[in-house]
Amino acid sequence: MSDILTVPRTRTIGPFDVGALAYGCWRFAGTKLEDARAKVGAALEVGANLLDTAAIYGFGETGFGEAEERLGDLFAADPGLRERVVLVTKGGIVPPEPYDSRAPELIASAEASLKRLKVDVIDVFLVHRPDLLVSHEEVAGALTDLRARGVVQEVGVSNFTPAQTRALQRFLDFPMVVTQPEISVTETSALFDGTLDLAQEVGLTPMAWSPLGGGALMTGDGPVAVELDRIGGGDRAAAALAWLMAHPARPIPILGSQNPDRIRAAAAAYDIQMTRRDWYAVLEASLGHPMP
Ligand SMILES: NC(=O)c1ccc[n+]([C@@H]2O[C@H](COP(=O)([O-])OP(=O)(O)OC[C@H]3O[C@@H](n4cnc5c(N)ncnc54)[C@H](OP(=O)(O)O)[C@@H]3O)[C@@H](O)[C@H]2O)c1
Repeated sequence: MSDILTVPRTRTIGPFDVGALAYGCWRFAGTKLEDARAKVGAALEVGANLLDTAAIYGFGETGFGEAEERLGDLFAADPGLRERVVLVTKGGIVPPEPYDSRAPELIASAEASLKRLKVDVIDVFLVHRPDLLVSHEEVAGALTDLRARGVVQEVGVSNFTPAQTRALQRFLDFPMVVTQPEISVTETSALFDGTLDLAQEVGLTPMAWSPLGGGALMTGDGPVAVELDRIGGGDRAAAALAWLMAHPARPIPILGSQNPDRIRAAAAAYDIQMTRRDWYAVLEASLGHPMP
């Protein structure tokens, strides 16, 4: 039996067929139309048809809602594009609260996203972070309303613990489809805190945010970097993405680069030949000790 870990190039999220890589728009605010077209075009070239954004993206730079506006401009300019992508956005982070997932606010947030994105429907709407002051029942009521009225097609959560995810699901009469935690070779909590186990148990697709540690992974030269460079033949980013995708919960790394060449280069992750031992060697380097 081969020891090489295989990585399927596609995934299914509810009714949607998506690539095993996604493209993220956190750093997208201020992007000019031509640049937006180049970035999203590069993402589609590598099969990353799942686009991730959020109402808050742009806050602190060009403004709340700005990243959605810029993506919306691209949808308006390139009419065929909307049908080629699966669109994820999020609501519930409202500075300086910091969170507000009360039902009217969450509903208003999704409706405002729809306008900024200039689309008819949000494919997958995520609660961006748990609002500790709102009951799971109330959040579920808002998500149910949005889905029933066709504002959103499917829903999910981001940065929720497994217990929070389960509690919210308890009040929904349809299954959530996505959980979006931070996961990378340097942030491995989701592998151990039940997030990726619950995903497999109930059929949630994990989307991994900051899959390169927000870029920090690309500059260090510690033990993790050494292992990744060895496995990737010098292509550290590809090895880090392949490591994530090899997990059996099948996390989808959300590419965050604003550089079309780097976005395209991510496709090399599909061709990384990683053994089971390689995978554990990266984890051990990250944890700083051998597996028990
Ligand atoms: N749900 C949440 O709470 C949450 C939080 C954070 C992010 N996210 C999502 O996750 C997405 C990705 O996050 P992220 O931007 O932190 O991802 P990332 O891929 O970990 O980091 C991207 C950063 O790494 C830099 N980088 C340096 N060398 C690179 C290389 N060789 N290849 C690729 N990138 C390199 C990029 O710079 P260049 O642009 O110059 O290439 C960019 O600044 C976001 O866009 C957003 O959609 C979600």
